[in-house]
Amino acid sequence: MEHPDTDPLHTGRRRRVLITGARGQLGAALVEAFAGDDLVALDRAGWDVSLPPPAGLDAPDLVLHAAAWTDVDGAEEDPQGAAAINVGGVANAASFGVPLVVFSTDYVFDGRKGAAYVESDAPSPLSAYGRTKLHGEAAAGEQAWIVRSSWLFGPTGHNFVRTMLRLGAERDEVAVVDDQRGCPTYVGHLAAAVHELVDNRAPFGLWHLAAGGDCTWADFALAIFEQAGIDCSVSRITSAELGAKAPRPDCSVLRSEKGAPELPHWREGLTECLARLGA
Ligand SMILES: NC(=O)c1ccc[n+]([C@@H]2O[C@H](COP(=O)([O-])OP(=O)(O)OC[C@H]3O[C@@H](n4cnc5c(N)ncnc54)[C@H](OP(=O)(O)O)[C@@H]3O)[C@@H](O)[C@H]2O)c1
Repeated sequence: MEHPDTDPLHTGRRRRVLITGARGQLGAALVEAFAGDDLVALDRAGWDVSLPPPAGLDAPDLVLHAAAWTDVDGAEEDPQGAAAINVGGVANAASFGVPLVVFSTDYVFDGRKGAAYVESDAPSPLSAYGRTKLHGEAAAGEQAWIVRSSWLFGPTGHNFVRTMLRLGAERDEVAVVDDQRGCPTYVGHLAAAVHELVDNRAPFGLWHLAAGGDCTWADFALAIFEQAGIDCSVSRITSAELGAKAPRPDCSVLRSEKGAPELPHWREGLTECLARLGA
């Protein structure tokens, strides 16, 4: 859907932007990328998004909905708990009736395409988490940019880079999965691309925004150790050997067929992230 002529995001006055999940890794990056706006940044204590917006929270001009249940394996054990946040939360964020950015995932795909996924590819999630995110996409309504991204990392929060830096300092070798391929995406680059998408008045709908390049988790671990100067080797294992609860797609590389803003290569994201971490 194209924007109407009376666009609430381009009124001439300072935009009021509500960010949910503001303490998450992406939420924190969005707070930085949208610092020029009139921000209302809420963590879970400010608004538990599985509930309707708190009384007294006025409708903003734009919602950036970064709050989510992101424990992929945990969702297998409590799919309804995950859905309350990933589906109910999106519906609550959409209830303001203003333009909204919701975030979805490469895990809506099953990985069997054997090539990069574009926006028009049919989703077929393998995991409970992926199903909740797909249902969340459907709950976003007509005034939403649905941004699918993948393998997020940043200087804060729980992510693969921070885990590898910790393990690499403790061990001589780590075992890392080598049969899943994706696009490790730096949250700072994703937040900047979201800013561009919104400011370019891109049509609402699905957008794939993921880092350039692709790799396996084992390749990514190796790059982290190399760039951070950590002396730790990577033993390449299979997903079956790791035995995680939730199945993940073998290949969930995301690309855009719609001219989405391009993100830098994942290696550039890693360099920026490590610089922020002082690693
Ligand atoms: N991480 C990835 O690799 C990845 C990949 C693709 C897409 N995504 C999507 O990108 C978005 C951002 O992910 P992220 O990596 O930034 O996740 P994150 O670091 O786990 O942040 C999510 C935030 O949501 C908050 N939250 C959880 N339940 C909530 C609730 N009921 N009410 C309010 N806040 C709640 C969490 O707070 P607490 O810490 O208090 O729980 C956390 O601060 C999500 O939609 C995610 O599905 C992530």
